[in-house]
Amino acid sequence: VRELDVAGSRVVIRDGALNDLWAFFATDRLREHRAAIVTDSNVGPLYAARVAAALETLVPVVITIPAGEIHKTRETWSRVTDEMLANHIGRDGVVVALGGGVVGDLAGFVAATYLRGIPVVQIPTSLIAMIDASIGGKTGVDVSAGKNLVGAFHPPTVIVVDPSLLATLPERELRGGLAEAIKHGVIADAAYFERVAREGRRPSFDLVARSIEIKAEIVNADPREAGRRKVLNFGHTLGHAIESASEYTMSHGEAIAVGMSLEARLGESIGVTKRGTADAVDSAIRAAGLPLSHTFDPADLLRRTRGDKKVRAGNVEYALPSEIGGFGSWTTPVDDAAVLSVLGRSP
Ligand SMILES: NC(=O)c1ccc[n+]([C@@H]2O[C@H](COP(=O)([O-])OP(=O)(O)OC[C@H]3O[C@@H](n4cnc5c(N)ncnc54)[C@H](O)[C@@H]3O)[C@@H](O)[C@H]2O)c1
Ligand SMILES: [Zn+2]
Repeated sequence: VRELDVAGSRVVIRDGALNDLWAFFATDRLREHRAAIVTDSNVGPLYAARVAAALETLVPVVITIPAGEIHKTRETWSRVTDEMLANHIGRDGVVVALGGGVVGDLAGFVAATYLRGIPVVQIPTSLIAMIDASIGGKTGVDVSAGKNLVGAFHPPTVIVVDPSLLATLPERELRGGLAEAIKHGVIADAAYFERVAREGRRPSFDLVARSIEIKAEIVNADPREAGRRKVLNFGHTLGHAIESASEYTMSHGEAIAVGMSLEARLGESIGVTKRGTADAVDSAIRAAGLPLSHTFDPADLLRRTRGDKKVRAGNVEYALPSEIGGFGSWTTPVDDAAVLSVLGRSP
């Protein structure tokens, strides 16, 4: 068992935690609540009955949304909130988010806004949700202008992480999560980075737990992303550009794997990152079975980085490590020529 606090949330990490869910509702406030279990069409059939049964004295309503990022929308938010209203969930309600990051972000945003805000308990079921999406209190939905543009900070009361649930996660989703684990190693912990590269494709309990700790430390140091939290964007400036250029045929994890490889090279090319870092990043990415190269037009990718939230005063800012496990400054403005030259070369 591992327990920690992150930005006002209690995190419990334990294999089999799902069976003892009630223990984590130990505050009087949560135990008096009515629960809306929000899940998706893949995860619900696997785990919703177990979760509902574990909630002992609560009378849970299970609300199932169709699986997939395309359903992380205001329309789904409307449907879920309407269903909760129809079930007379009042201010004494609690949302239990059971699923991957899509469910977590959407259900978290429902909880943030329903009757001006009710508590949420996160039960992340994908590797990305366990080590990234459920930690830090960011919630929201996608809109036509872009991903995650409408949302709120709404820290969960409790985050229950049961790594044994990863047994049913499809292989490709698991690899996507490993990209974020590699990122956590690069930005904060060289020993952890080595371990992720060594463990390859089957994440152990400790791999999951340490990754959560790293994200928690960073978020606790800078909950509102004024400075240090920006390091979590490593690989994501170019990664997001690649993800959108692929029209989302590449998963987020696949795109940021390529993004990390490119950004490590970018850091080396402008003298911010120690030589050899990019090769080490590449070998960890390879070990996880993730891609390293892309076939997109460099000018198009560059243009896409300009639409990014991270643009400051015309220069796109990158989160570039000084070495594996270390940072000089949290962000570095980089001019177009340097970016183009890295995007143009293949690994
Ligand atoms: N709030 C944040 O800070 C934050 C951080 C990172 C990512 N995110 C968001 O998270 C989302 C991506 O999360 P994701 O990769 O978990 O996507 P997802 O929720 O779509 O889950 C991926 C797929 O795996 C299935 N699945 C999940 N757990 C399973 C299990 N245990 N067994 C079988 N199938 C399972 C899902 O049904 C889905 O089909 C994106 O919307 C992203 O914006 C948010
Ligand atoms: Zn990411």
